[in-house]
Amino acid sequence: MPPRELISPAAIARRVAELGAEIDRRLPAGPLTVVGVLRGAFMFMADLVRAIPRDLTCDFLGVRSYGDATVSSGVVEITSDLGAPVAGRHVLLVEDIADTGLTLHYLLDLLRARGPASLHTCVLLAKPSYRDRHSGTPLDFVGFDAPDAYVVGYGLDAAQLYRNLPGINILEP
Ligand code: IMP
Repeated sequence: MPPRELISPAAIARRVAELGAEIDRRLPAGPLTVVGVLRGAFMFMADLVRAIPRDLTCDFLGVRSYGDATVSSGVVEITSDLGAPVAGRHVLLVEDIADTGLTLHYLLDLLRARGPASLHTCVLLAKPSYRDRHSGTPLDFVGFDAPDAYVVGYGLDAAQLYRNLPGINILEP
């Protein structure tokens, strides 16, 4: 069955513009590195950095947590590391979706250990599982609350497919 649209490309564009302005307002002045989590965040990050009106650099962390399954494996594996040190820089970690929160927490620990001047998180989508289990832990900027369903499109995949859908869609079982 083809995926069913949940959030339209126009709604994403409006929210990304708001997020970019909010990030610029709230992050301290100074050197900013935006770190995208590959591969799911590549499209969101490309749009988001264009909405942040200040000098910044882009870097990426390659991560695998699901393999080709639609249920978390519970294991986070780094497949490629940052290209440059983040010590002394303001870091914004950009993730596609927070589900169990395992990936985000693993990456926050990893980045914190490298001595950034500040560390903030921006996720496009937060599932109810994350919101229930992690109240009080930092999700500084959230695009949308997601339902408890598997979503694809706008960079998010199911077994590497559907990343090219322009909106966010629910994958029907
Ligand atoms: P977590 O570690 O359980 O929070 O899972 C985070 C990662 O799992 C995300 O970065 C995504 O790559 C992937 N993921 C979780 N839920 C979905 C979904 O609904 N669609 C696509 N990928 C997902």
